[in-house]
Amino acid sequence: MRLDVVTIFPEYLEPLNVSLVGKARARGQLDVHVHDLREWTYDRHNTVDDTPYGGGPGMVMKTEPWGEALDSALADGYEAGARGPVMVVPTPSGRPFTQELAVELSERPWLIFTPARYEGIDRRVMDEYATRMPVYEVSIGDYVLAGGEAAVLVVTEAVARLLPGVLGNAESHRDDSFAPGEMANLLEGPVYTKPPLWRGRDIPEVLLSGHHGKIARWRRDEAFRRTARNRPDLIERCEAAAFDKKDREILSILGWKPSEDGRFWRRPQAVEE
Ligand code: ADE
Repeated sequence: MRLDVVTIFPEYLEPLNVSLVGKARARGQLDVHVHDLREWTYDRHNTVDDTPYGGGPGMVMKTEPWGEALDSALADGYEAGARGPVMVVPTPSGRPFTQELAVELSERPWLIFTPARYEGIDRRVMDEYATRMPVYEVSIGDYVLAGGEAAVLVVTEAVARLLPGVLGNAESHRDDSFAPGEMANLLEGPVYTKPPLWRGRDIPEVLLSGHHGKIARWRRDEAFRRTARNRPDLIERCEAAAFDKKDREILSILGWKPSEDGRFWRRPQAVEE
């Protein structure tokens, strides 16, 4: 997969040399190109922004540097044999970045990121490139960052770990919290490793039992507990048909009831400590 990032802070993308993404680069699974947007400015101050039409606070990133930078990154990629680019524009006004979207992006051969500072990029830039390639405007959460670079790191890491051969174990994605699929989407429960006793704290006995069925059931019950506590919306969203008899038992213990629309709801007073 080829990645291009156009930014006014190339050094902000240094973490792409570290850990999982860094190793994927070193192995040639990821071909990363970071471009400095200011290289496509021609005035003394390397200006990339200007005041917004219609007034208002803040500054807007200008069309010309973005246009030239993107044309150059695209020409460079095509020359190197890359095909099928998609543009990923991090913005708090974008669609939520989810595991499902990470999977979708991981299936594309070429991602071009355009992290913005200030109040964002002149709309015409996205409209122009949308005539040539899919443009995804994505938000990594309901908060406002000072710029999109941190979002690029987030999206890149979520996507890179899904690439074939990057994590080593293809099975491991199947159990990811939020993995798309038929199954109810539950958060993963707690995990433990050696030593068996630490500061007087032991580990749940079932994990030492060697009984795979019981361990799987315990893990699923813990997943329900954690999901009910931290993300009840994930349970509310599930069709009741996604739950087996044991699931219904643990849901009932946690205060959830099936309703007529085929979903589950929770009595307001049943919130766990
Ligand atoms: N830029 C600023 N805030 C952002 C967010 N929440 N997600 C993506 N890009 C952003």
